[in-house]
Amino acid sequence: MRAMAAALGISTTFLAVSVVLAQSRNPDKPPVGAAPKYDPAVYAELQKAPEKARRRTNPLQNDPDAVAAGAILFEQHCAECHGNAAQGSRKAPSLLAPEVQSATPGTLFWLVTNGVVRKKMPVWSKLPEPQRWQLVRYIQSLAGAAPAAENPAPKP
Ligand code: HEC
Repeated sequence: MRAMAAALGISTTFLAVSVVLAQSRNPDKPPVGAAPKYDPAVYAELQKAPEKARRRTNPLQNDPDAVAAGAILFEQHCAECHGNAAQGSRKAPSLLAPEVQSATPGTLFWLVTNGVVRKKMPVWSKLPEPQRWQLVRYIQSLAGAAPAAENPAPKP
């Protein structure tokens, strides 16, 4: 009986703690020290894509299933850091930012393939290439994505 009361006490405390934690995760109020979502410096890595990589076109550009497939892959591999709708989280920046949305498909493919290991963006070269292109299609399908092929990033 005592043990049960103790257990109940612990679980109540636990509940209270989780409520507090849940509140501190309120997206409208980022905790102090959270990375700003639209810091342009975060996206500098995209500018480093070599010319040849930038120019690569997406072989799945006209594949009607690519966006849906990419969405599933995104949920499996990327959402934990970039958020369910790629809006960003404390762990990783938003992919809806203009820097990402205006990047060419080849640039995004290059970034996903190589990662930014020192900044905790993993390397995804083990995902089959078609899956990486599906992810690129998905990312570019979000939030008023400009047709990147017609709007290539400026030459370095
Ligand atoms: C472990 C956390 C984590 C996971 C999982 C992750 N990312 Fe990232 N990602 C990051 C971080 C951190 C950055 C920012 C890197 C930097 O500062 O340059 C980033 C950057 C990016 C960028 C470039 C935008 C920028 O900031 O320059 C793209 C595109 C991207 N990620 C796509 C993906 C895709 C697609 C997946 C899933 C296949 C994925 N990420 C999975 C952490 C993650």
